[in-house]
Amino acid sequence: MDSDRIAPATVLGWKGSRRFGALTAYDFPMARLLDEAGVPVLLVGDSLGMVVLGHPDTTHVTMADMLHHVRAVARARPKALVGADLPYRAYDTPEQALANAHALVGAGADFVKAEGGSEILPQIRAIRAAGIPFCGHLGMLPQHVLEEGGKYRVKGRDEAGRQRILADARALEEAGAFACVLELVNPPVAAEVTRACTRMATIGIGSGPDCDGQILVTPDLVGAFPWFTPRFVVPRVQTGQAIREAAAGWLRELNPPS
Ligand code: KIV
Repeated sequence: MDSDRIAPATVLGWKGSRRFGALTAYDFPMARLLDEAGVPVLLVGDSLGMVVLGHPDTTHVTMADMLHHVRAVARARPKALVGADLPYRAYDTPEQALANAHALVGAGADFVKAEGGSEILPQIRAIRAAGIPFCGHLGMLPQHVLEEGGKYRVKGRDEAGRQRILADARALEEAGAFACVLELVNPPVAAEVTRACTRMATIGIGSGPDCDGQILVTPDLVGAFPWFTPRFVVPRVQTGQAIREAAAGWLRELNPPS
């Protein structure tokens, strides 16, 4: 890791004092632009599968895809902490999780993220034992969307769901995760996890305002994937429409009316 790069401990140190933002990046220019804007955490998320590679969900993303995009982001040499998702079926065993986490770090990631709670504790322990910073992901787990009938549903709405999320968050914290994404978690439950876990920063997405940090898929924020926008995101610009207009205007000027 570059010595002037933001460290996981710095992000954790903001807990309770400063809300931080995190955004996804999949290539060199976006990583550089977001870094220049001062975004402290960049995630090479496997959302890449949908918003860059055109797959219907994240289950199609491979380690080769992730390595290719982590290297592109790392070439921007951002000051931001760079995370990378372990993709679907890349952490079925502790050995596989560790080998793939090492590969992502070798490509330029500072931390790795994987989806799940108690069921992936052996994998998390293997990653942490090797000294690799780890970020969890609880709530709605996109890699399991097919098992959920293709629906992205809010989690933690009933008491059993609330208890499961709290128990999983405590287990991840105990295993040494410095942060945990809470995706589509019922906001009061996300707030409860944020208060309960004092040694792990929560990073919410569609989980209400009371998390330590917030993360968005950058194309959603900048209107670069205009065919679908999650209901909790208000795009700040419409780059998709700006691209259409720029291209159409240029085409028109190739054959000006005589
Ligand atoms: O893949 C991704 O981009 C993510 C974020 C939505 C947190 O996991």
